[in-house]
Amino acid sequence: MSEFPQYRARRLRRTAALRNLVRETHLAATQLVLPVFVRDGEKLRRAVQSMPGVSQTSVDEMLRDAEAAAKAGVGGIILFGVPETKDASGSAAWDDKGAVQTAVRALKQEIPELVVITDVCMCEYTDHGHCGVLRDGEVDNDATLELLSRAALSHARAGADIVAPSDMMDGRVKAIRSSLDGSGFGQVSILSYAAKYASAFYGPFREAAESAPQTGDRRGYQMDPGNAREAMREVLADINEGADAVMVKPAGPYLDIVARVKAETGYPVAAYQVSGEYAMICAAADRGWIEKDRVMMESLLGIRRAGADFIVTYFATEAANQL
Ligand code: PBG
Repeated sequence: MSEFPQYRARRLRRTAALRNLVRETHLAATQLVLPVFVRDGEKLRRAVQSMPGVSQTSVDEMLRDAEAAAKAGVGGIILFGVPETKDASGSAAWDDKGAVQTAVRALKQEIPELVVITDVCMCEYTDHGHCGVLRDGEVDNDATLELLSRAALSHARAGADIVAPSDMMDGRVKAIRSSLDGSGFGQVSILSYAAKYASAFYGPFREAAESAPQTGDRRGYQMDPGNAREAMREVLADINEGADAVMVKPAGPYLDIVARVKAETGYPVAAYQVSGEYAMICAAADRGWIEKDRVMMESLLGIRRAGADFIVTYFATEAANQL
């Protein structure tokens, strides 16, 4: 590398045209995935207080949001269900007539160009709010695998392109892969939330999905925020079990993990810019402390630069409209 004064980094920063020519990372609308919260009913739209612009909607209203996303060029949508009734095992999760399953069928029919991903987890469906069945106050890993498989299978029957387990049980990818394959859904992909941290940044989501644990927390199954090498073990385990793509979550505070997963596996990597990341940007912008659009785009570009191939973000439609 040449030295100053031969090397002058500023030469290529002088104009937008020069900067565009040498830009290393690009963000495209097709790389964004919009999360939505669906529940039973009609013409229903309930704003989530801690997430401006985000609502729980009935399937008909969700379709309006999905149309706007597709029109903006957004690549995909990820569905979370808010059931009317919850029980100890979360049985509404595999109800073929549930809001998520109905939403998948409607999306496949009306907006076939959007990739449809379903979140597979028990926490929205259990009355205790944990991501699996409880035994002696702890989530019973192996008993939960069967329930997750039922939910994933029900999403596949509805027509989901990708199922995304977010529960952090050990062995769930293997269990889900074998039940999908055993039922003729070998073509359905698995995006595993492979490195999902026990994060305080999920706070607003739990209001949106009505999924806060009634007692205790999720540290017994989600990852400790201090761990990076363990994230690689989690990711490799999921890949060995058959994950087609892996996700790191949250995104912004865990960009080192995103970079490492991409570099060390070469697999498709997703990153989830979670509810707390979204809420912080919205709140600061609302106070006039930061410029919302620029911070939004910069946060997404940073996640791409770290190595994410695609990003799950509540900003998906808004950002896509700017691209
Ligand atoms: C379900 C799940 C959570 C999120 C995605 N799937 C919540 C949690 O683990 O508590 C968080 C998403 C967000 O904060 O935007 N287990």
